[in-house]
Formats: sequence, C-alpha cells, structure tokens
Amino acid sequence: MGFFGGKKKMVLGLDIGTSAVKFADLKDTGKGYQVENMGLTPLPPETIVDGSLMDATTVVEAIGELISHYKIKKREVAVSVSGHSVIVKKITMPKMSESELEENILIEAERYISFDINDVSIDFQILSTPEKDMGEHMEILLVAAKKDFVNDYITIVREAGLSPMIIDIDSFALENVYELNYPLEIGDLVALCDIGASIMNLNIVRGGKSLFTRDISIGGNLYTEEIQKELSVNFEEAENLKLGGSSEKGSPHVIDKVFNKVSSNIALEIAKSLDFFTATFPDEKVARLYLTGGCAKAPRLKDIVYERVNIPVAILNPFANIVVNPRVVDPEYLKEISSLMTVSVGLASRRI
Ligand SMILES: Nc1ncnc2c1ncn2[C@@H]1O[C@H](COP(=O)(O)OP(=O)(O)OP(=O)(O)O)[C@@H](O)[C@H]1O
Ligand SMILES: [Mg+2]
Repeated sequence: MGFFGGKKKMVLGLDIGTSAVKFADLKDTGKGYQVENMGLTPLPPETIVDGSLMDATTVVEAIGELISHYKIKKREVAVSVSGHSVIVKKITMPKMSESELEENILIEAERYISFDINDVSIDFQILSTPEKDMGEHMEILLVAAKKDFVNDYITIVREAGLSPMIIDIDSFALENVYELNYPLEIGDLVALCDIGASIMNLNIVRGGKSLFTRDISIGGNLYTEEIQKELSVNFEEAENLKLGGSSEKGSPHVIDKVFNKVSSNIALEIAKSLDFFTATFPDEKVARLYLTGGCAKAPRLKDIVYERVNIPVAILNPFANIVVNPRVVDPEYLKEISSLMTVSVGLASRRI
C-alpha cells in the first residue's frame, strides 16, 4: 500500500469528507472513463474534526448505508487523507537508484519532518526533471503521514467491509481529476483549489507534476459558524440557511453579509498562498485557478476570488471528460453534486 498507487485494476473512490462520505465507481471503456455508480451520504457535525475521525462508528455506518443504498459490489477502495497530519514536501537529494533511495529516505526525511519519524508512514516519488538538468541531484516528492491518523482510516474502511488498497492524499486526487479532464492544458501552470467544509487543499501543477501544495484549515463551516453567531441558531439551522433554506430567524441581509465576509477571507487566503508561490518561484506565472469542493458553489465566491488574485478563475468540472449516463445519475442531480465529487472521482481513477 502506498500513497502513489499503481496501475491496473480499478477501485472504488471513497472520499471521507467532513460533511459527507462520497464515492465514485468508474469504468474504463477503453475510450475513456464512464461513471458506473456514484453517490454521497451526509455526516453529522463533529463526526470528523480537522480531518481526524472523532466518531468512527458513525462513519462506518455511513459507508454501510452507501453500500446498501447504491448496491456497491466493488470491495477494493482508494481513500484519501489530508490536513495537519499529512506533510507533502519537495526535497532535493543526491542522485541515486530507487532502491538506494528506499534505504536512505528515512534518514533524509527526518530532516524535513516535524513529527517523530517513528510515528509516520513515508512514501516518495522521484520527480524526473527532463526540462531542468539537476546535475548530481534529483528532486523527490516526499509524503509523510502520521501512522495513527492513517490507521484510523484503514480501520474504518475495513470495519465497513471494504479493502483499503490505496491511501491517497486529497490534493493528489485533485491533480488526478484535473489531468483526466483537461488533457489539452498539459503545458499550463494552473492552481487547483478544493474547498470543502473544513479544509482547503491547494495544489499548483503543470504537466503532471506538482510544484506546490498547501492545506489550510478553512472551508464551508466558516460560513455556517458565522451564521450561527450572527443569528444565534444551531449548526443545522445555520447550515440550512446557508444552503438557501428558510427559518424563523433567517435574515437574507445577514446571510448576504456573512457570504461576503467569509468569501473575502477565503479569497485572501488563496491570494496569500499564490503570493507565497510567486515569491518561491519568481519566474513562474499561474495561468488559471480552478475552484472545486462544496464551497465552489458559494454564490459569488468565484468573482470575489478573481477580484483578489487577478488571474482567470473557473469552476473545475470533474466530469468534463468522463461519460455520465443520465440513467445512472440524473443530470440535474449531477449538476448539484459535481463539485462535491471531485476527490472521489480522482480516487476512483487510481489503479491497484
Ligand atoms: N450551494 C452551496 N453554497 C455554499 N456552500 C455549499 C453549497 N453546497 C455545499 N456547500 C458547502 O460545501 C461544504 C461541503 O463540501 P465538500 O463535500 O467538498 O466538503 P467535505 O469534503 O465534506 O469537507 P473536507 O474536504 O473539508 O473534509 C459544506 O460546508 C457545505 O455547506
Ligand atoms: Mg473534501
């Protein structure tokens, strides 16, 4: 089992997110991918906090509900992790073979990782750089995740009766989806930004390679919490108001104000990360920013982000290059959920 997966057999993509468990099952038709099955089930608040599984039983039950409701047959799954317990770093090492690297990576990793090396699982990928001769050196993408954290996910998936075959990282799944759906942009430097309920994953990529990734603890819950404060309502009521529902205490004016304020904060965080990237890679210019995740649906967020970052902003379509039969998923429903399905589609396109 590794963070980078392999080739061959298809798996079920299972995205255990803060607000919902989502899954996608893809079929490789030979001419591309087709959705075989797909769906989601919500999780109650506090089930997952900052990526940590607080209430494992509830998550196991939610997966069970998905399996029975959608009659899921496939047992091999790819799941992903993100947040504070995961570190992704690009490091430079002397040139060596893959097996030599395997022997040396732990010692090397220790220099870059703030956690105790005995508590983490390590994986790596050699980033070959044909466009840039690095002489006696090579670039490695190092991934480290706290063992306890990853084991919690593995345990949950097993308890739900499934076999975890691939443990991925949210921002890699995001990159995967992008490459799958926008093959013509292969030479462009683009920023991919998945904003969920509690975590924002940013990944700046070009030609199948990641130049920069960052996870930030912001997301849709910020709107909900702000509505809670402003209107003295509980989480469920605030979430409902956010999504356009009505309630006695609801006030369109207040909701509007919250949307503007929180969206501006999110835009500022994205801009700060892009500025940091530009400071690190002064010769690079990001051509486009793609937004996805449930928050990408927040009204005007796209425009507010654009005003801040001043590069074209688009909503990523995880099904741009994937066939979705209207008999499998209702087109109206597909429109509604597509931004939520990005990570699970990315996971489903991984091979064992
Ligand atoms: N139409 C909408 N307008 C605003 N926010 C929305 C809308 N639809 C969904 N959201 C918000 O998107 C978030 C859920 O998105 P998503 O499913 O991508 O997150 P998640 O994967 O559960 O969370 P995370 O990735 O942070 O663990 C929730 O906060 C939800 O309220
Ligand atoms: Mg998510």
